[in-house]
Amino acid sequence: MDKIIALCKRRGFVYPGSEIYGGFGNSYTYGPYGAELKKNIKDLWWQTFVQNREDVVGIDADIILHPKTWEASGHVGGFNDQLVDCKNCQARFRADHLVEDALGQDCEGLPDEEVTKIIKDNNLKCTKCGKTDLSDVRKFSQMFSTQMAKTGAGATAYLRPETAQAMFLEYKNILDSMRVKLPFGIAQQGKAFRNEITPGNFIFRRLEFEQMEIEYFIREEQWKEVFEAWLGRMKDWCDTIGLKAEHVHELEHAQEKLSHYSKRTVDLEFDFPFGKKELYGLAYRTNFDLTQHQEHSGKKLEYFDDATGERFIPHVIEPTWGLDRTILAVLCEAYTEEKLEDGSERTVMKITSKLAPVKVAILPLMKKDGLSEKAHEIFKDLQSLGNCEFDKSGAIGKRYRRQDEIGTPVCVTVDYDTLEDDTVTIRDRDTMKQERIKISELKNLVRERYFA
Ligand code: GAP
Repeated sequence: MDKIIALCKRRGFVYPGSEIYGGFGNSYTYGPYGAELKKNIKDLWWQTFVQNREDVVGIDADIILHPKTWEASGHVGGFNDQLVDCKNCQARFRADHLVEDALGQDCEGLPDEEVTKIIKDNNLKCTKCGKTDLSDVRKFSQMFSTQMAKTGAGATAYLRPETAQAMFLEYKNILDSMRVKLPFGIAQQGKAFRNEITPGNFIFRRLEFEQMEIEYFIREEQWKEVFEAWLGRMKDWCDTIGLKAEHVHELEHAQEKLSHYSKRTVDLEFDFPFGKKELYGLAYRTNFDLTQHQEHSGKKLEYFDDATGERFIPHVIEPTWGLDRTILAVLCEAYTEEKLEDGSERTVMKITSKLAPVKVAILPLMKKDGLSEKAHEIFKDLQSLGNCEFDKSGAIGKRYRRQDEIGTPVCVTVDYDTLEDDTVTIRDRDTMKQERIKISELKNLVRERYFA
């Protein structure tokens, strides 16, 4: 992880947030290449799951929703972690993490008193100062609240802890304004906020992160088959973004560990350098959310089947993707150190071409003698393939290494022969093979070979 984090900073993927003020907790900024990678992932996801499907529509809702949303969903009062304080050094821990790290015991879901007893009976220590002066376990809300300018009811609002709820709030508008019939999905991408007691592992667990979620509305009797179908689509997605099948694993949640809304949950876990951890989730949310919102809002949220004349509240399958974890998994999968034949070493990010932050780098061998101008012309022409980079400074070998480290699939080099015969050299990132080709064939060849 240290090497990946260092590369991310050195090469403009991810910077520590607010660094000039000494950093700020678990805050990060996606630098220019990180922002491109993130955008490419979001666009590919939207294209795959919204634009290319006839049964899914997208929305873009507010982060701050009506506070009653979170009462209905069960998050107010129910979306908690178990917190334990060190009375000596004031460090704070998630009780289940403390117990798991010290004893290898999974105590998630146990009552506070039982977890307190496990900690006391085993004399568990603060992992920061080493003292055994730990508080009793208590609930800690993961919801970030904020004060609105108005007073009275609704003055306290929440930053959404999941994007999902807006899809339930807009379900009726979608039914009324779009020509959807069951089964159909509502998709959204956007920020979610969770007051994590122990954020960490770089961008894996953050206070502020992005999700890409679909609420897929079905008839109750369809749930098993639709669940399996979405599990398949989620695995296909992992393959599309370049995650090796052997690094992605299914984790079936035990019945007693399920969230309050779920009847079945399967996580897709990824082999991160710090262990096998949750990447995505798939849940059968039943008709819990729509039923709750119907009760709390007083608005009918039934579906009318005009073929059968039935009225009922649809059930929901929810596939959910964490965007920041996707970025991290793509970076971890791509990071490669290679020993070359001449004994030198290189680091190369083997990011799949569709997601690469820079599609093509155009490099004049020299700045002078008209090479820069010619290379710049080619750069302007290739820009329709996506984000291209024109880099004219430094030794050519160093420029190739830099492009390897940001994952550019192909470099185009313009040299003195280019001025004579209108040919250029293309260099493949993964094989490092070089090939001479005509400028007139360049764009099509690169498009077909790398981005088709
Ligand atoms: N709507 C369902 C839901 O929010 P979740 O498993 O709590 O389910 C979905 O979150 C995904 O969001 C996770 O699989 C993970 O990828 C991502 N995620 C959750 N908490 C996160 C955090 N603190 N930082 C970064 N990503 C997070």
